[in-house]
Parts: sequence; structure tokens; C-alpha cells
Amino acid sequence: MMETIAIKAIGAQGDGIAESGDFVPFTLPGETVSIERHGKQCMLTDVVKASQSRKEPPCPHFGPSGDLCGGCAIQHADDGFYRRWKRQILVDALASRGIQTEIANLHICEPGERRRIVLTVRKTGEGPVLGFNQAGSHTVFALERCLVATDGLNRKLGDLGALVQHIPGKSLRLTALETETGLDIAISGGPALRPPQRQAAIAEALKRDIARLSCNDEILIEPRKPVLQFGKALVTPPPGGFVQAVMQAEKAMTNLVLGHLKKAKRIADLFSGCGTFALALAGHSAVHAVESDGASLAALDRAARHTPGLKPVTSEKRDLFRRPLTKNELKTFDGVIFDPPRAGAEQQCRELAASTVRRIAAVSCNPATLARDLEILTAVGFAVTSITPIDQFLWSPHVEAVALLERR
Ligand SMILES: C[S@@+](CC[C@H](N)C(=O)[O-])C[C@H]1O[C@@H](n2cnc3c(N)ncnc32)[C@H](O)[C@@H]1O
Repeated sequence: MMETIAIKAIGAQGDGIAESGDFVPFTLPGETVSIERHGKQCMLTDVVKASQSRKEPPCPHFGPSGDLCGGCAIQHADDGFYRRWKRQILVDALASRGIQTEIANLHICEPGERRRIVLTVRKTGEGPVLGFNQAGSHTVFALERCLVATDGLNRKLGDLGALVQHIPGKSLRLTALETETGLDIAISGGPALRPPQRQAAIAEALKRDIARLSCNDEILIEPRKPVLQFGKALVTPPPGGFVQAVMQAEKAMTNLVLGHLKKAKRIADLFSGCGTFALALAGHSAVHAVESDGASLAALDRAARHTPGLKPVTSEKRDLFRRPLTKNELKTFDGVIFDPPRAGAEQQCRELAASTVRRIAAVSCNPATLARDLEILTAVGFAVTSITPIDQFLWSPHVEAVALLERR
């Protein structure tokens, strides 16, 4: 049954919030809309009175119809509204922990900049479908072009469809990373390849000029090492390993971190991955990189050893949730950068709070856990000297942030 309701606010996931408390995707505050209820879900059927901030979505595959792509949450708002909403997610998270600081404008990322995408592959009777899930569903929308992704990734989407035909498994996950030397493709989720499948996948990867193809963490073929540049160092990340999704966002974050820590003699990079910050910082300072993923650390270490002119770089494989660097271990560092997964770095921040470290850069993809971690540090006298939201995940509800702290 159709209902007409008024939208009064927008939530942190990008859905409009009705006066009734219902969440209605694809709507904006001030709008009057018609909806249909499907269980607890409200589906937009018509915009009766549109907000002045509403605009035509740039992607033809974005919208309320259940058979469209669910990869983006908000493309129906103009840039001004969208950017205020993204920044406000961070403002609200910090306010909820009583952290008062000036928050910079959103660092903007443009369409066509995302170099790393994670796609779902489903094999149906009609062949593989490759793309993002439809909104609120496990059905995959067949992606032909993604406005968020780089041209280099878009040009190869057809090739990836051909490639996955040779990989066994009905449901797979495909990570595509555009590097300086070509595409790095990591597929996971299927059973082990039999020899004919392996040969066919290798032949297809060569035909399609893929730099590296890996399946379930095993490299099948690597005609060229995939390479990213961090500072002066050239790094080959492990198959499917973490790297920042947008190069321009990575550069903006690195510049903020470098600016804050440039005078430090010895820096700890906690949750270092394969060295995004560590290798850039090592141009000026000795760096100790700590991370739980051995393959990422090996990549970082290899890059550091092959790059002339860096200050000493050491690395340590360690679970920082269970065993954060202690206040005693932190005595030898005058600067720290941490960039944890979404869960944040609570235990590590307790040790940092008790330590003598004076300058910290906190990078985070989750404003809620960032705010909790900053609360631990500000409670012992750290001041947040700047905090910058970064729109690394365009048109999604995710917002990245870099906070810079100094002990007063
Ligand atoms: C958001 S990524 C940041 C990586 C890196 N700083 C970068 O910019 O590329 C978080 C990193 O934390 C690592 N990690 C996750 N859980 C961890 C843990 N318990 N202890 C140490 N590292 C962990 C992941 O492997 C990943 O490399």
C-alpha cells in the first residue's frame, strides 16, 4: 500500500529519516515522498515535493529501483549538501565524545579516482556476473562502467568477466587494483584450481595484459610486478592486501602526516600495512613499522631495502589489539602515526596516553572509533591541532579522517 510521508533529516548511512522514524533511502530532508513498505523496509516510489538540494544522479545505475547497482548510497544530492553531510558525520562523532576542535572542510575526491575496487562475482546459467550487490540484496548488478573507478579499471571490466570464467566457484570476490605497472587482480572464495583451469586462467590473464593474477592468495602469473610508490620507495603489495583506495586521498593524508611528524627523529607507524606512511616518513626519520599481516610487512621491508637514501626502517609483526606497544616501548619514539582498521586503536591509545610521546597523527576510516580514541588521548592533555575529513569513498557513507595531536 502506498503512503505519503515527510522526510525531516538524513542519517549517517545516507538514508532520509521520516518524521515517523522510518528510514527511506534516496530521499533528502524537507522532501515529501511516496513509499511502499516491504516488511521493515521503505521503498521510495515517487518524490512528491523535492528538496532544492536534489539533483539528477550522475550514474544511470543509481536509484531506488531494486534492480539497480547498490554500490553508492547518495548521488541524488548536490555537491554542497553532500559535502556538508559527509563532514557532519565526523562533527557529530566528535561531539558525541565531547571533543571540541576546528574541523577542516572535506578534502574532495573526484569521480574516476578510485584505483582499488572489490567486486562480487556470481556464476549463473548465463555466465558470470561481476559487480556490486543491488541495494539491500545479494543479487549482483552487472557492472559495465563505474563512475567512481579509474578509467584504467573501467577499461578492464570486460576482461575481468572473461578471466573469472576460468576460476571455479559460484560466488567469488575479486579485488582489482590499478598500479603503476598494470592491474593486480586477486580472486578469492572458490575451490582450488585444477590444472586445466589454472592453465586457462593464466592464458587469459596473459591475453588480457594483467600484471598479476592471484587466486586464494597464490600467485598464478605475474608478467610484471604490480608497483605503487610511497615516498621514494616502490612497493609491490601482497595479493589483495590493504592499500588506500584513492591515490589522491593517500597523498593528502600522507602530506598531513609528514607535515606533523617531520621534526621527529624516530617514528612508530602502527597498523602500517605495506608502508604507505612508513616509507614516506622514512625520507626524514627513522621508522619502526608494526603490523599483524606478515605479507604486508615483507613487502614494506623489501621496498625499504631496495630504496637508497632512506633513514633506517625496521618492522615488527605484532597483533596491536592484544599486544599494543607499551608505554615503556614507546619511550624511544618522539612521533607516532596509527591507522587502524574500523575497530580503532583503543588499547594502543591507552598506552600512548601513559607514554612520553608528544606528537601523534591518527588516521581513521571510522569516525566513531576515532572519536573514542581521541577522547582517551585528550583526557591526558593531548590537543587536537587539526582534523581533516577526507572523502576517499565517494558517494558512500564512509568518511576517512586525519587528526593531528600534540601533548600540551
Ligand atoms: C586501515 S589499514 C592501514 C594500513 C596502512 N597504514 C596504509 O595506509 O596502507 C589497517 C591495517 O591494520 C592491520 N591490522 C588489522 N588488525 C591488526 C592488529 N590486530 N594488529 C596489527 N595490525 C592490524 C591491517 O592488516 C591493515 O594493514
